[in-house]
Amino acid sequence: MQYFTTKTELVAYLSKITKKKTIGFVATMGALHKGHLSLIEESNKKCDITICSIFVNPTQFNTASDLANYPNTINTDLEKLEQLACDIVYAPAIEDLYENEEKAKEFDFGSLTTSMEGEFRPGHFIGMATIVEKLFNIIQPTIAFFGQKDLQQLQIVKALVKQMKSTIKIEGVSTIREENGLAKSSRNKLLSKNAKTEATLIYNCLNYCKNNKKKGIVELKHYITHQFEQHKNLKLEYAEIVALNTMQPIEGWQRENENAICISAYHSGVRLIDNIIL
Ligand code: PAF
Repeated sequence: MQYFTTKTELVAYLSKITKKKTIGFVATMGALHKGHLSLIEESNKKCDITICSIFVNPTQFNTASDLANYPNTINTDLEKLEQLACDIVYAPAIEDLYENEEKAKEFDFGSLTTSMEGEFRPGHFIGMATIVEKLFNIIQPTIAFFGQKDLQQLQIVKALVKQMKSTIKIEGVSTIREENGLAKSSRNKLLSKNAKTEATLIYNCLNYCKNNKKKGIVELKHYITHQFEQHKNLKLEYAEIVALNTMQPIEGWQRENENAICISAYHSGVRLIDNIIL
């Protein structure tokens, strides 16, 4: 596995080896779990070369403390990537990607960024798009793989590629879950065993919606609110049934697989998000 900390070295290396080879790219902020590893596996299956970036992107954090507390597990991350035969890791310092004092770029993704994560984490998506655009320009992948767990991010990255007029293909990869249904997340490490069990309420509510579409959107949202009211250790931030193409709440169903139920909730101060396509 090749390891680079500067874009200059990475680009020089790629220019020598990538003629006619397809490049799969997985962008991460480290603290790798099985969800990330499934993206690497998908890339390995579909592309000649897999590149993983590890970079904790400062412009997508709303608070300095959230950024400061973000886990750094670079050594175990590298071991995991090595075991999966990832070809290249790019793990730069901030200065390699941002000029001094550089801020997020002013993107406009319309309705995609105003609801849910966009509402509760202001500025998060333009920071995310800023770094993803930089990484795409450096790596120029054939396919970039993103987890469906961050559904709104996935839709925004698809819009970003269109705005860039790029040919990069964006592939969403299904959410990997714990045995009890809880979506894999770097934040799960912060939950006690009991909290992990209680947090399955999120998945249970998502599944209830999937199995009870006939009840209608208003009733499904009431059901979720009621469930969370009965589980005092969990605090519901939002539960929205949205159209995939706008990421805005809907009042009536769109076609099959064009809707999603998205939930964000806190357990013991840990923020958890999840969704299911309906
Ligand atoms: O999903 C993430 O971990 C981040 O938002 C990403 C895509 C690596 C950009 O920093």
